[in-house]
Amino acid sequence: MKFFVDTADTKDIAELAETGLIDGVTTNPSLIAKSGRPFAEVIKEICGLVPGPVSAEVVAIDTEGMVSEGRKLARIAENVAVKLPLTWDGLKACRTLSDEGTAVNVTLCFSANQALLAAKAGAAFISPFIGRLDDINVDGMELISDIRQIYDNYLFDTEILAASIRTPNHVKLCALAGADVATMPPSVIKALANHPLTDKGLEAFLADAKKAGIKV
Ligand code: E4P
Repeated sequence: MKFFVDTADTKDIAELAETGLIDGVTTNPSLIAKSGRPFAEVIKEICGLVPGPVSAEVVAIDTEGMVSEGRKLARIAENVAVKLPLTWDGLKACRTLSDEGTAVNVTLCFSANQALLAAKAGAAFISPFIGRLDDINVDGMELISDIRQIYDNYLFDTEILAASIRTPNHVKLCALAGADVATMPPSVIKALANHPLTDKGLEAFLADAKKAGIKV
């Protein structure tokens, strides 16, 4: 399973990239706004920090505008993946950009039928938003399983990029459901390593080592 970090904070990305555990980055207009930096500048810097895909989202809502913004974003760096919303216009733009060889991440997916359309439009990634479904009492994980089954039934190679991940448990369930990628905030990635029994065990081992004067 690939791990993408969902942020536009270059400090956090650089720190996580050093671990070798990060395969890519996703951003969205809200995250870019939060960074307080110019769009193209921050995307370019992120592209230099990770070798894998860096999703950069268009803000146009018509096909022509999305294609034009998508081409502009794709020129920033080779590892840019153009992020397009799952609308009818977005699907048409996805077809055009994918045919030109640009990796497209179709975002704001909330149904299996939307995911089916994105795969048929040639998307490299589909982003189902788990947390936002959970927020309205719909099981986000069921959507991941449904998409997995549909893509496997027809051998679509669009990667399932589970998004809007809020907890470590989301990550485990996505892995069990066969998502190809999980994108999550830095805090969730770090929380994956935590376990109170690890802390307790380590404390006991270190105390015993100190008592016995063990040196390595
Ligand atoms: C993914 O590409 C999105 O940027 C992100 O996962 C949205 O998460 P949120 O629903 O927590 O804002």
